[in-house]
Amino acid sequence: MICDYFGKCGSCTLHDMDYEQQLDYKVQAIKERFLVHDIDIFRSPKQQFRYRGEFRIFHDWEKDRLSYAMHTLEHKGLVQINSCSIVSESINKAMQKLLVEVHKNPILKERLFAVEFLSSTTGEVLITLIYHKKIDHVWKNEALLLAKTLGIDLIGRSRGIKIVVTKEYIDEQLSILDKTYHFRLFDTGFTQPNPSVNQQMIGWVKKHISLQTTDFLELYCGHGNFTIPLSERFHKVLATEVSKHSIKSAVENCTLNGTENIDFIRLSSEELTEALQYKREFNRLKHITLKAYHFSHIFVDPPRAGLDMQTLNFVQNYENIIYISCNPETLYRDLEILKKRFEIERFAVFDQFAYTKHIECGVILKRK
Ligand SMILES: C[S@@+](CC[C@H](N)C(=O)[O-])C[C@H]1O[C@@H](n2cnc3c(N)ncnc32)[C@H](O)[C@@H]1O
Repeated sequence: MICDYFGKCGSCTLHDMDYEQQLDYKVQAIKERFLVHDIDIFRSPKQQFRYRGEFRIFHDWEKDRLSYAMHTLEHKGLVQINSCSIVSESINKAMQKLLVEVHKNPILKERLFAVEFLSSTTGEVLITLIYHKKIDHVWKNEALLLAKTLGIDLIGRSRGIKIVVTKEYIDEQLSILDKTYHFRLFDTGFTQPNPSVNQQMIGWVKKHISLQTTDFLELYCGHGNFTIPLSERFHKVLATEVSKHSIKSAVENCTLNGTENIDFIRLSSEELTEALQYKREFNRLKHITLKAYHFSHIFVDPPRAGLDMQTLNFVQNYENIIYISCNPETLYRDLEILKKRFEIERFAVFDQFAYTKHIECGVILKRK
């Protein structure tokens, strides 16, 4: 990929390799670390694959110019950029137009510190403008005109203040094994950054689970990204997550897809393990009969820290474990324990974060 900022911008750390070389470099590292040879490999588009982006704003007062900026590769200061080769086409288009319009308007320009972009495969864009000043109704009026001019949705943030100018979500469509799913993505809450790889991840898991008569348990479910497509393989689903915002959108996403066999409950993984071992009762579970579930599969997609000890012990109660991980180091640590009682059936790498050293892994485990 050609990018004017490769080697300067701190975002793409594997800038000196082409797409296949950087993928091969990461796959080899995974093979050596995990001693697995039969790996399913899923590629990313070579450019414009990130549907989320965060940029600092650089004000050049002498030239009266605004530009986007990223941390340098050496993490010493900022590098100014005009475009970004890894973010989606719709974000790139919005980036250019946004700066032109903001530059003309002192209320929108003054003390603008950073901009976050969230886009969807349907071409919608949600922009969050982050300020180092108090924003108010005067700012909102100007922002509303900006949103109309750009044809995007807009949010403003400053310390302790959030102003939703138009709406705080965009609508996303994912194609998974020939079926289309609809998701509402909010500015708060986790979203997978690379929808092409995300679709392949969900498809990979779904392909490896046949139709079951049993139930499915998911921890760290976010807004139902995996839950909704995978629910079709099971009788009933219990899916949990710590973020209130994500659970709210997961419930909304169920309605969008006409899915009726999932209960989404806001519980941390630690709380869920206590509830399912009948060590603690929760009001949030009052309408659920835990004893009625017969879970055959447990699915985990934890944050970079991996599974805590309590959750790691708990997942071993089930016949099948599906583990999606964005951090090979914590996955390795957790697999060292799981491998004592579970066999690895399939191992996959998903190049969700191309041109960086990061890679997502998926492991399907079955009790020995
Ligand atoms: C890597 S994301 C995966 C989300 C979802 N599977 C997806 O594909 O969009 C991890 C999720 O775990 C949630 N989380 C973080 N710590 C948690 C905890 N202790 N218990 C439950 N959920 C947690 C986060 O809010 C986040 O939504």
